[in-house]
Amino acid sequence: MGEGMVIRDARPSDAVGIAKVHVASWRETYPGLVPDTYLVNLSEAAAAMRWHNAVQAHAKGQGALVVVDGMDKIVGFATYGGRRVPVEGYEGEFYALYLLEEAKSQGIGRRLMAVMAERLLESGQRNAVVWCLRDNPSRWFYERLGGTRVAERPIQFAGADLVEIAYGWQDLTPLARLSAGPEMR
Ligand SMILES: CC(C)(COP(=O)(O)OP(=O)(O)OC[C@H]1O[C@@H](n2cnc3c(N)ncnc32)[C@H](O)[C@@H]1OP(=O)(O)O)[C@@H](O)C(=O)NCCC(=O)NCCS
Repeated sequence: MGEGMVIRDARPSDAVGIAKVHVASWRETYPGLVPDTYLVNLSEAAAAMRWHNAVQAHAKGQGALVVVDGMDKIVGFATYGGRRVPVEGYEGEFYALYLLEEAKSQGIGRRLMAVMAERLLESGQRNAVVWCLRDNPSRWFYERLGGTRVAERPIQFAGADLVEIAYGWQDLTPLARLSAGPEMR
């Protein structure tokens, strides 16, 4: 993983940093995939308020992780918990995983997935899915980490008709094994 990068549990006081990553990463990831007006209107302040509440309100088995660089700046985040949409045979879900451009391609995404897998196993969830827009090239990352396509669904998002696909891990153990290392605290 990148020099000086640390993964830790998110705190409510991280909300502004998470919101900055959220907005920047959505604007980097989704042009052409979700309506431009939605991306233009994203607000860091509104996102920060939502993240502050979300981090405080996490139920048992749910959680949020942040990645901080050597200057203590949040450069990525990930959230997980019980599945929100029924997918037969799967209990857990990776809800969100976003990195700033500067934090990509250093193995951080892999480590975040591993730590989330470890956490889900600890809370008794042996398997999990992630939902991803079919046209998001990041889906190859999930394939690279051993996820297999298990479901597809049409969604309405900001007035657009989109398609999401779910990747599943029937056994999270191999994914969780990628997580041991000194950077986690
Ligand atoms: C998807 C994302 C989290 C990946 O994180 P990352 O830290 O860059 O990925 P890693 O460096 O851990 O890569 C792990 C492996 O996946 C591969 N990989 C990563 N992104 C990939 C992509 N877009 N296409 C193909 N392979 C990819 C890497 O090459 C690496 O393979 P290796 O084992 O051969 O070295 C990151 O690119 C991101 O934040 N994307 C934008 C937000 C997004 O789309 N999130 C998902 C929403 S569903």
